[in-house]
Amino acid sequence: VTIPFIDLDAQRRRMGPALETAILNVTRGGHYIIGPEVGLLEKELAAYTQSAHVVSCANGTDALLLVLMAKDIGPGDAVFVPAFTFIATAEVVALRGATPVFVDVDPKTFNMDPAHLEASIAFIKKQGKLKPKGVIPVDLFGLAADYDALLPIAEAQGLWLLGDGAQSFGARIHGKTVVDRGIAWTTSFFPAKPLGCYGDGGAIFTQDEDTYNRLISLRFHGKGDHRYTHVQIGTNSRLDTLQAAILLEKLKIYDEELKARQLIAERYTKALQDVAETPYIPGGYTSVWAQYTLLVKDRTKVVQALQEAGIPTMVYYPIPLSQQPAYKHYPTLGVPVSESLCGQVLSLPMHPYLTAEVQDFIISHVRKAL
Ligand SMILES: Cc1ncc(COP(=O)(O)O)c(C=O)c1O
Repeated sequence: VTIPFIDLDAQRRRMGPALETAILNVTRGGHYIIGPEVGLLEKELAAYTQSAHVVSCANGTDALLLVLMAKDIGPGDAVFVPAFTFIATAEVVALRGATPVFVDVDPKTFNMDPAHLEASIAFIKKQGKLKPKGVIPVDLFGLAADYDALLPIAEAQGLWLLGDGAQSFGARIHGKTVVDRGIAWTTSFFPAKPLGCYGDGGAIFTQDEDTYNRLISLRFHGKGDHRYTHVQIGTNSRLDTLQAAILLEKLKIYDEELKARQLIAERYTKALQDVAETPYIPGGYTSVWAQYTLLVKDRTKVVQALQEAGIPTMVYYPIPLSQQPAYKHYPTLGVPVSESLCGQVLSLPMHPYLTAEVQDFIISHVRKAL
């Protein structure tokens, strides 16, 4: 038997004909671009997160990029991003011709370290070459960033904050989603994400009407009141109607899936906390468990032992962004915590359909390997 790292087929089987009917309805309806399901999904996402506005788009990378376009970010601007994340968080900044500045993360939560953000802003200001404009904290592995500490630091320095929630749709602090913490918050519907579609997809959440209006236009070639009037330079970044229909169905079971993920995470932690460093969730935070990630010392040995038992594992992420070949010339004060995490992180199979039996098998082999 091979154990899947994420079992999307189990989800498909569970959803049955509802999903297939939704897909068929779109193919028969013929409104493939910005069809009725897109508007409906945006409404449902807004209701789920209590957000004033939602703009769906082509993927989670574009979601970030469109916000940078709406904020007119460009050459000479500095945007602060964590060094321990997926490349897209920094890529969008570089793509605008601006400069990503790599900030270190907290060794327990793996999320942007507020003290290091403050020091990094001071460092860029002192250098005097770049204009600090914004901060993009990431809710890594499904756990919300420390917005309560990060937002006041950004605001005190006159910077905006944009949350990268590609991995954390539905993550909460004290029972509330975090979509309203900055000028915008974005997510990804890549298939492997907690709320995933059957292709690429993304969304932007904002509480600001002007930003919303700009985003609606930017994702559609900068259109004005008329489809062929272009009032700004935009791009083509729409969510397919087909993906919206799929997401509408998946959203119906999302809370149940989050509960299952939570139970599975708790089970892993209970069984492994004496042999490895298990994930730390601060009081009041609810993770959506996009990943279940351990810190282990002799990772190569553990990966190999698990592989021999047919258990897949992943290393998110092996290299800090500050050491990536295309990014190592960008400024940073140094990111020792990110570097150390890259050498120790190990993600185990995690999805809502992991059975107790399979999980016990994984647990016993992880314990043996450690
Ligand atoms: C932290 C983070 N930001 C951004 C993205 C980009 O999302 P997408 O793959 O939908 O473009 C991802 C996922 O791939 C991610 O994990």
